[in-house]
Amino acid sequence: MEIGRLIEERRAQRLELHKRHVNPALARVLQIIDYDVDYVRGEGAYLFDADGNQYLDFLGGYGVYQLGRSHPALKKTLHELLDLDRPNLIQMDCPILAGLLAERLTERARQAYPGLDAVFFTNSGAESVEGALKFARAATKRDRFLYLDHAFHGLTLGALSVNGSEHFRDGFGTLLPATPVPLNDLTALKQELEREDVAAFIAEPIQGKGVTIPDDDYLLAAQRLCRKYGVLFLVDEVQAGLGRTGRFFGGEHWGLDPDIVTVSKALSGGFVPVGAVLLRRDLHKKTFSGLERCVVHSNTFGQNELAMGAGLATLEVLETENLIENAARQGERLLAGLRDMQDRYEMLHDVRGKGLMTGVEFGPPSSLKLKAAWKALETMQAGLFAQLVVMGLMHDHRLLTQVSGHRVNIIKFLPPLILTGEQVEYALTAIDATLEKAHRVRGGLWDMGKDLVKAAMRR
Ligand SMILES: Cc1ncc(COP(=O)(O)O)c(C=O)c1O
Repeated sequence: MEIGRLIEERRAQRLELHKRHVNPALARVLQIIDYDVDYVRGEGAYLFDADGNQYLDFLGGYGVYQLGRSHPALKKTLHELLDLDRPNLIQMDCPILAGLLAERLTERARQAYPGLDAVFFTNSGAESVEGALKFARAATKRDRFLYLDHAFHGLTLGALSVNGSEHFRDGFGTLLPATPVPLNDLTALKQELEREDVAAFIAEPIQGKGVTIPDDDYLLAAQRLCRKYGVLFLVDEVQAGLGRTGRFFGGEHWGLDPDIVTVSKALSGGFVPVGAVLLRRDLHKKTFSGLERCVVHSNTFGQNELAMGAGLATLEVLETENLIENAARQGERLLAGLRDMQDRYEMLHDVRGKGLMTGVEFGPPSSLKLKAAWKALETMQAGLFAQLVVMGLMHDHRLLTQVSGHRVNIIKFLPPLILTGEQVEYALTAIDATLEKAHRVRGGLWDMGKDLVKAAMRR
């Protein structure tokens, strides 16, 4: 089989194949919002279509492309590994690459979170969270979990049990015993912890859905409360970790010291799925408590060679190219440019973020002339305004972004950490022009809104 030729021959049937065999609803949504582009290449911060048009990628594969696409160092490592014909997945084995990645990860992690010296490898963010929940139960002999309103930790059943959105939970039956607590409400957290039946409190340093940043003292105080009540503090760094927020871990912004940490996404270099749970050795021992239990929690692909190679290369590139510092610098630039727009655009209610994890929130206009149009859109569907901005950025400027959650008027930017100043300026100009259009009473985005609804109804 020649894979390149196969792709060329069948490319035109892409959407049809997905409608027939994969996810018809998603294929239709992409057509409705004009996101059904046939990309043929990815390089750095850009995607390219068959006509050679370039698209600036602020969607970042949902936060996977910290290094940008097709990074040469990643490709070199993976090619080299394939050519070595390494014995992969022997299973009854202690593969060197898994050992090396565990060593590297814990060395780097401990610069921020001192206690973490054991690693369990996984294949995804959700699987890391599943593992973390199990480790917490085994260590505490307690069943219940606490999580934050609006949290997102993945969509497998355990991870779904600590998901703060009804939209995702609805229809999937009984989940694990877990209780949501409002963000920034320490009293509510304390009340739950006092019941002494909680294994762990799980939190993202910055919530991916909505890019919500906790109050400055919240997470550290929450950690202290957890310690007081013997509850494990589990920080989910799947999205905010590995440099995204301008620090290696998102929780570093507040000097956290969690018991268990989950990572995934960017560790893959955008090539090979991989994740990890980092935890204290004493906690790890509570699960793997004897020779008989040495594989009591395990998986088939967690330590696979390509994933381990991708992880090692990713950590090296983050460091050698100073990408974390760059994320902090370019993130500040992006935030400053967006904040400058707030005076000019009345529906731009909030701009927030750390490093290159940036959220822009829209809300009702104050001027009479725009109020009716806003109301009409929101009546059609909550969050439609943000969706139209996302569509406008794509349609007019080939800038890929996303609405940050279900039916919310927030858009999120997760560009690669290799972003340059020029690319930040390009994005700012595109956002400015799109918001200017959106604030016109007639034409522009409002018309797109009507067209969008018509297109959705037709389909
Ligand atoms: C914080 C967080 N945890 C877990 C997950 C789940 O990761 P995955 O989609 O790889 O299962 C995500 C995915 O977006 C995430 O943002």
